[in-house]
Amino acid sequence: MDSLDTRLKILEPENKPLIELFNALAVAANEISVRISRGGDFGSIIGDENADGDAQKALDVLADEKFLEAATGSKVVAAYCSEEQDHAVILDESAPLVVAIDPLDGSSNIDVNVSIGTIISVLPNPGGDLQQAVIQSGERQLAAAFFVYGPQTTLFLTTGKGTDLFRLDPDVGIFVMIEEGVLIPEETSEYAINASNARRWFPPMQRYIGDLILGEEGPRERNFNMRWIGSLVADAGRIFNRGGVFLYPGDNRPNYETGRLRLIYEANPVSFLIEQAHGAATDGSNRILEIMPKAIHERVPFIFGSKVEVSWIANYEL
Ligand code: AHG
Ligand code: MN
Ligand code: MN
Repeated sequence: MDSLDTRLKILEPENKPLIELFNALAVAANEISVRISRGGDFGSIIGDENADGDAQKALDVLADEKFLEAATGSKVVAAYCSEEQDHAVILDESAPLVVAIDPLDGSSNIDVNVSIGTIISVLPNPGGDLQQAVIQSGERQLAAAFFVYGPQTTLFLTTGKGTDLFRLDPDVGIFVMIEEGVLIPEETSEYAINASNARRWFPPMQRYIGDLILGEEGPRERNFNMRWIGSLVADAGRIFNRGGVFLYPGDNRPNYETGRLRLIYEANPVSFLIEQAHGAATDGSNRILEIMPKAIHERVPFIFGSKVEVSWIANYEL
C-alpha cells in the first residue's frame, strides 16, 4: 500500500509544492489525532467568537495554531485563511499556493468522543492583494482534502485526478492509501439533515423532506433512512463510503438565509472531493464550484452526495 508520501510523489515534478504542503499538513493532523485520543479539556470555551459568530473552543484554537505552523513550515503557502481568523495570514508573497482551512470541523462534538476533522482547500496564488487571494471560485482549486479524527483517522484527498482515501497508521504516524479512486453510489435511500430546523426551512425544503418521510406511501414510493452526525466531515465520510445526501439549507433564522456552512473552506473543498468521486454538490440549483465568492467567511446552502438524489432535489426549486 502507498503511504501519503509515496502517493504524492507520483505527481512530481509539477506538483512539488502540493507534496510539500500535504506532507506538512499530515504531520500536523497526526499530532492533533494523537492529542484527541489521549483526551483532555479540549471543549472549554477559551476564545472570543470567531468570524462566523461561533464560540472558539480550546481545540479550535490549537488546531488552527498547528495547521498554521505546518503551512508556514512548508514554505509553499503565500496566504493562510482560516475559519478561526478574521483575515488571511500573509506568509510569503512569492509562494505558489493559498490555503483556506476549517482547522476543526464539528466543534459541538469535541467533548463527546464523536468524529471531528479538518477541511482544506488549496488554490493558486493569484498575486495582487493577498487579503483577497481566497476570493476565487472552487473550480480553481488545485487540491482539496479533509481529515477525520474518529475510530480511525482518515484522509480524503484529491488533486483533480479522483479522490483517494488514506488511513493513519498510528504506530508509525504515516497515512497509507486504502482506496484509490473512491466512487460514490449514484443512488441512495439515506439522507442527512438537522431536522430540528424543519419549521424554519423554506417551503420547497419542507416539501422535499416531507416526501422522503412519507416513504413507501409517498411520491418516492420507497422508505428513506436518516443519519446526522453533526460533523460535516463525518457525514461526508459516510457518504463517500455508502452513498447518501447531505443537506444544510438556508432557513428563516437571522443570519441563516444561506445556511450555516462556509463556501470557501467547507463547501468548496468538500464539493471538489465529491465531484472527483462522481457525486454532485449544489446550493440547491447551482454547482457549488461555479459560485464566485464575495467574502472570506460567506455561507452557502449546501447539498451534496449521490448524483441522482442531488439532481432530484433540483425539481423542488429551492
Ligand atoms: P464548525 O464546527 O467548523 O463550526 O462546523 C460545524 C458545522 C458542520 O460540521 C456541521 O455539519 C454543522 O455545522 C452542524 O450544524 P448544527 O449545529 O446546526 O447541527
Ligand atoms: Mn466546520
Ligand atoms: Mn471549525
